[in-house]
Amino acid sequence: MAWGSFALLFALLSGVAAGPHIKKEMVESSERHNRYYHYEELRERLRSLAEAYPRQAQLFSIGQSVQGRELWVLRITAELHAQIPDRPQVKYVGNMHGDEAVSRQVLLYLADYLLRGYLRDPRLTRLLNTTDIYILPSLNPDGFENASEGDCTGNRGGRENARGRDLNRSFPDQFSPDSHPDLSEVPEVSAMINWIQSNRFLLSGNLHGGSVVASYPYDDSHRIQFLVSTASLQMMKCLNT
Ligand SMILES: *[C@@H]1O[C@H](CO)[C@@H](O)[C@H](O)[C@H]1NC(C)=O
Ligand SMILES: *[C@@H]1O[C@H](CO)[C@@H](O)[C@H](O)[C@H]1NC(C)=O
Ligand SMILES: *[C@@H]1O[C@H](CO)[C@@H](O)[C@H](O)[C@H]1NC(C)=O
Ligand SMILES: [Zn+2]
Repeated sequence: MAWGSFALLFALLSGVAAGPHIKKEMVESSERHNRYYHYEELRERLRSLAEAYPRQAQLFSIGQSVQGRELWVLRITAELHAQIPDRPQVKYVGNMHGDEAVSRQVLLYLADYLLRGYLRDPRLTRLLNTTDIYILPSLNPDGFENASEGDCTGNRGGRENARGRDLNRSFPDQFSPDSHPDLSEVPEVSAMINWIQSNRFLLSGNLHGGSVVASYPYDDSHRIQFLVSTASLQMMKCLNT
């Protein structure tokens, strides 16, 4: 799913019509882009963004992993306390496979970039003025901590959660209604389901690593045309190009 998801991410950014070409100097990022952040450091970076931009960023957790790590979400939108009802909700989820770690870093950098650009870059200002963005850099923080840096075979641990479950195979599946994943084994999946059901996300990206795949709903069915309208299918194809 990696490249499709990135394409979607950039499509979202570039789809926003550029405003007047006045660009105030962006504040330089303190990110050095040279290593992965473990749980505490990632949490501190998210927290410091929320503190630095209290009107545009809000940090919360949707629940905890098996080992008790918070599943942090940074919400980014202009004037977030104003509760603007018709602002579309968009979410990004990274690191669902704990050893697919690039998305975890990239989503943090995206958050940093969006916030630094607000009121400086007209395109980003307009994006934050019109979109309610939710960034969950790691759905599998336990897996990440168990992964080995440099292992590209996926054999040295970290893909699954701390109960050995693949989170990406643990959602109820509408095409196999008889399969009932045991949600008590995957608190990360339960948290995600509750979060999805209590919001109205219009567009989502789930970022993986390791292969070049672009999936769009409903990707585990060959009966796709019965389930997705032609218009939304075209939109998905367009976003994935
Ligand atoms: C974004 O919102 C701010 C505050 O309401 C407003 O001053 C600004 O003109 C808006 N900018 C864009 C590009 O939408
Ligand atoms: C960490 O990964 C190893 C190797 O796959 C696995 O045997 C072990 O159960 C994992 N531990 C946790 C806590 O996930
Ligand atoms: C999990 O992975 C499969 C592909 O292997 C994909 O079809 C599916 O959409 C993914 N599910 C989630 C919830 O990310
Ligand atoms: Zn994956």
